[in-house]
Amino acid sequence: MERFYITTPIYYVNAKPHLGHAHTTILADSMARFHRLMGREVHFLTGTDEHGDKIVKAAQAAGKSPQEYCDAISATFRDLWPSLQVENTQFIRTTDPEHKRLVQKALQQVYDAGDIYFGEYGGHYCTGCERFYTEKELEDGLCPDHKTKPEYIAEKNYFFRMSKYQDWLLQHIKDNPEFIRPEQYRNEVVALLEMGALEDLCISRPKSRLEWGVELPFDPDYVTYVWFDALLNYLSALGWPEGEKMAAFWPVAHHLVAKDILKPHAVFWPTMLKAMGLEPFVHLNVHGYWLMKDAKMSKSLGNVVEPLSLACKYGVSGFRYFLLREMSFGHDASFSEEALAGRFNADLANDLGNLFNRTLAMTHKYFGGAIPQAGRGGPDEEELMILAKDACRNFQRLFERFQTAKALEALWELVRGLNRYIDCQAPWGLYKETNMSRLATVMYFVLECMRKVAVHLWPVMPEAAEKMLSQLGVSADPASMRLDTEAEDWGGLVAGVHVAQTSNLFPRVELAAVESAPKPAKAAAPKAAAAPAAGQAPAQAGAPAETTAKAPIDFEDFQKIDLRVGTVLAVEAVPKADKLLLVTVDLGEAEPRQVVAGIAEFWKPEDLTGRQVVLVANLKPRKLRGVVSQGMILAVRHGEGLELLGPSAEVPPGSPVS
Ligand code: MSP
Repeated sequence: MERFYITTPIYYVNAKPHLGHAHTTILADSMARFHRLMGREVHFLTGTDEHGDKIVKAAQAAGKSPQEYCDAISATFRDLWPSLQVENTQFIRTTDPEHKRLVQKALQQVYDAGDIYFGEYGGHYCTGCERFYTEKELEDGLCPDHKTKPEYIAEKNYFFRMSKYQDWLLQHIKDNPEFIRPEQYRNEVVALLEMGALEDLCISRPKSRLEWGVELPFDPDYVTYVWFDALLNYLSALGWPEGEKMAAFWPVAHHLVAKDILKPHAVFWPTMLKAMGLEPFVHLNVHGYWLMKDAKMSKSLGNVVEPLSLACKYGVSGFRYFLLREMSFGHDASFSEEALAGRFNADLANDLGNLFNRTLAMTHKYFGGAIPQAGRGGPDEEELMILAKDACRNFQRLFERFQTAKALEALWELVRGLNRYIDCQAPWGLYKETNMSRLATVMYFVLECMRKVAVHLWPVMPEAAEKMLSQLGVSADPASMRLDTEAEDWGGLVAGVHVAQTSNLFPRVELAAVESAPKPAKAAAPKAAAAPAAGQAPAQAGAPAETTAKAPIDFEDFQKIDLRVGTVLAVEAVPKADKLLLVTVDLGEAEPRQVVAGIAEFWKPEDLTGRQVVLVANLKPRKLRGVVSQGMILAVRHGEGLELLGPSAEVPPGSPVS
């Protein structure tokens, strides 16, 4: 059986968990779940890093002994994870006696091999980073990370001969291009090594300065410096040097960290492993930071986001989805609750939630809730199957490489494709025509693809995915789920099985800041002007408001008008036409439409983007100021402003207005 070993950093216990810690751990959890569904045996390790100056200071500030303090904060991390649906196999603490014993064993081994020596060291020590900086590394004499002035300390210490392994490491990285990924971090490390300036690493502190650490086995006056202690957790957790876990999981070790601890993981750790005679890990996966208004989230800046309150408000599934969808691997992302609510409403409430709501409702209306037996599909079904296959394959290929944002984007091709397929096939029309065999095929294809979506979502949002699966009448037991066969397999849903009557997985969130209607631009609007038919030439300023009723028309005439809801994707000015805007509208069609609207006096482009509008979709295209307009946006004059017509809640683009 194939295996997979995934680790998170072990978190310092000098502060409580925040959004950043939650992100790494949820990402690692989603990887663990993904690999389980790919049929692999998984070991997933997280834990806490409990030695060092910082912890002693934090304990003093809290009026506790270091051990009492560590026990309390470590427990907040350990207890948080299950509430975020993180299922780690193991939780390690650097104060675990077994870990300490193995750290001493490793130190003795490297010492005996001659790679640890005693020397004198003088350097600029930053307590925040728990490391010495050279003159060159400081920025204006300050620690580059904490922006505080480090203390100059000269003392005798033990050193690890890291410089000895510089050339080996550089070669290893060159021979294994994905050893550190994504590429920008690999390049950073290669550049550092190519400078040829790798120094030996100070690995001890005299007990006179720090007692809270693992004692050096060869000198009781010293404790080991945090990194030599902390990094070894990845091995001590497996019972290094012997044991089944070690043999099974070390060869498939994947570390996950953020960019702040790139150097210890990409340089200190592989050289330590080499000195211990071990093979390096397989991949170091490095993600960016969550930023708050462009600043790093940190306790000292007082801008940390508490993960549990968000998970309560948006549901654990919504929260996990947002984290994994919003941050593209390796890059920083800006956190805001508006972005979270926006993503939740657009992707989950709208695209996915509506797909489930309407499909389950239709299955009940047309087939009494029983999954119908599909007949032979035609070219549209063939196309849908290709879309599903591609979405599954792309999702799996990207997710495996930690590219969760792109993977989810790929899966949403299918989610949106299904909504389009429904709009196109119009099951309600087939029902009206009593074309039940075609209706059964259409509904089965949609339901089966929804099952595929749910299985793929399990690593990201286990709870919601399990609900989706049970709503579709299939087992939500992870032990019986497989992802690797999903691209090729078809027919997981069994005809006759009943689906749930309602879904309601992701009720829309109403966030004042997101929901508040955009204010029309304060452009000088004409008084009592006629309501301009947006999409047509703008009405003449000063013309009287049109109040007279028009001649009655037959219902059949009214039915000829195809009114649809569209989402505004982009807005630009029309050259040499002050009153016109070129609005790009998504109607759920293969290509978005472009509509020329006479609304520039009333609406700023940025207030329009993202809005839903009602469009006359079957108006013959016409040219306005040389630009083709493919429809007309409906609007109503109101006082000095112009209001746009739209649905009271977001609906899938292309929804017909009836
Ligand atoms: N104890 C060391 C790690 C030792 S691993 C052998 C440490 N601890 S930490 O508590 O500071 O955790 C750092 C990690 O927390 C980051 O690498 C990242 O995984 C996570 N994050 C902390 N803040 C973060 C953000 N603002 N954004 C994203 N992740 C962040 O370093």
